[in-house]
Amino acid sequence: MNTKAPVPGDMPPKGLSRRGLLQFMGAGAGAAVAGAAGLNFAAASPVTAAPLTVAGSSSLPHANDANFWRQVEKLFTLDKKVLFMNVGTVGSPPREVLDALDKTNREVARDALSAYSDFADVRAVAARGYGCDVDELVISHNTSDGMSKIIAGLNLRAGDEILTTNHEHGGGLVPMALARDRHGVVIRKVALPVGNDQRAEDYVELFRRAITARTKVLLFSAPTYKTGTMLPIQMLAKLAQEHGLISVVDGAHIPGMMNYSFHELGVDFLAGSAAKWQCGPGGTGVLYIRNKVLSQYNPNPLPEFWPVVSSSYPQEGGVPPRSSTDTASYNIGTYLQSVGNGSIALNEGVRTVCGVWDRIGRQRIEDHVVGLSSYLKDLVVERWGVGSLYSPKDDPRLVCALTSFNPFRNRTDVLNAEKSAEFVARMRDEYGITIRNSDFPVIGSAQPHRPVRISTHLFHQSKDVDRLVDAAWKLSGKMA
Ligand SMILES: Cc1ncc(COP(=O)(O)O)c(C=O)c1O
Repeated sequence: MNTKAPVPGDMPPKGLSRRGLLQFMGAGAGAAVAGAAGLNFAAASPVTAAPLTVAGSSSLPHANDANFWRQVEKLFTLDKKVLFMNVGTVGSPPREVLDALDKTNREVARDALSAYSDFADVRAVAARGYGCDVDELVISHNTSDGMSKIIAGLNLRAGDEILTTNHEHGGGLVPMALARDRHGVVIRKVALPVGNDQRAEDYVELFRRAITARTKVLLFSAPTYKTGTMLPIQMLAKLAQEHGLISVVDGAHIPGMMNYSFHELGVDFLAGSAAKWQCGPGGTGVLYIRNKVLSQYNPNPLPEFWPVVSSSYPQEGGVPPRSSTDTASYNIGTYLQSVGNGSIALNEGVRTVCGVWDRIGRQRIEDHVVGLSSYLKDLVVERWGVGSLYSPKDDPRLVCALTSFNPFRNRTDVLNAEKSAEFVARMRDEYGITIRNSDFPVIGSAQPHRPVRISTHLFHQSKDVDRLVDAAWKLSGKMA
């Protein structure tokens, strides 16, 4: 979807030789090709790595790609004894990022370096990968930090309504609760249907019907962390624009998973994690603030917004009015980024990991991880039936790389908190597979449902999905 700087044909050609593959992996970054592992990404210069975004292509399984993804897997230090499938909670930084952190931390300590900086160079690299401009992008601490800064920065008054969903995360719920308790903002929730029976239009209609004359903000997670439903961001952004609403996306899982151009999404704000699917250092996130009129994607005026945590906002004189054209009137990102002494090492980690992703190709990663999820969904349907899925499957606008399903042979066990927790623990202890469960309201059910949630990422292959499904099937038999 991110159509910036397309590089056509950068899929590894079928039947690529080992040497050819290694060259391909280093392409665009001048990476040295060496070492027993076959790939030496450490020599690459992430700053100069051109973003490789390609038109969407394969999903799984693609036998010829296995070698490519095996090389990608070698970039990570994940424990080989464990099959880690909970990236939705936290990712794992590649070796190259660990090296950058270590080297930078040592330099900072040796030279007693401070960083009263707006990290514009790092933000420029990240902004290029996420399809926005540097003045619109902040390297935040995490999704929760970004959501807090967005909601606290809006000019919301008593009686103003935020329209959200019943499947939000605390990272968004808490700042909304603060706005309610402090300012009298009203929070209203749309109940989200789950599973494979909905289309994108159905979700948009639910929101449309719930908008009132007091609604000021449309706030939703995409994907929701509960079921991995990718709420249709562009369609909901359009809906918000039509009603003059501010759109806020909790996009915790978007960076590093989906190749979205933030501009093209057409939203006003998006907060994401850089430490989950993006596999950056812990304590890093991505915050997008639309800072100009985007005639093609979001022609609405910019909402009033204050950089509430800043040490660079002018002490006198304020700032000019927010832009009403396609040129920013000031750099809102810099005000939010420059907050006292920052971490050079964390920022270096983000820069490095963005370089790795751009080099592999963000569209290729999205195709791979979403393709694995759809392969997993097919296997789940074969064994447990389509009714066991909490994630959508058939509408491509609603899918992502999170898969949520009821693993129990006795379907009502999904209501049982102990059994759900036991399932996750036994998958780890008996099969060496790390997954998680989640709990959430389901329309028509008096009790919350507690299915399992699987993350398929770039260090996985179809054989890992096969292993997961076999283990879950066996365990569900034992627990029946
Ligand atoms: C939808 C959603 N929002 C927010 C968060 C909080 O993420 P972070 O740790 O980046 O603040 C999570 C974490 O899993 C999440 O899934």
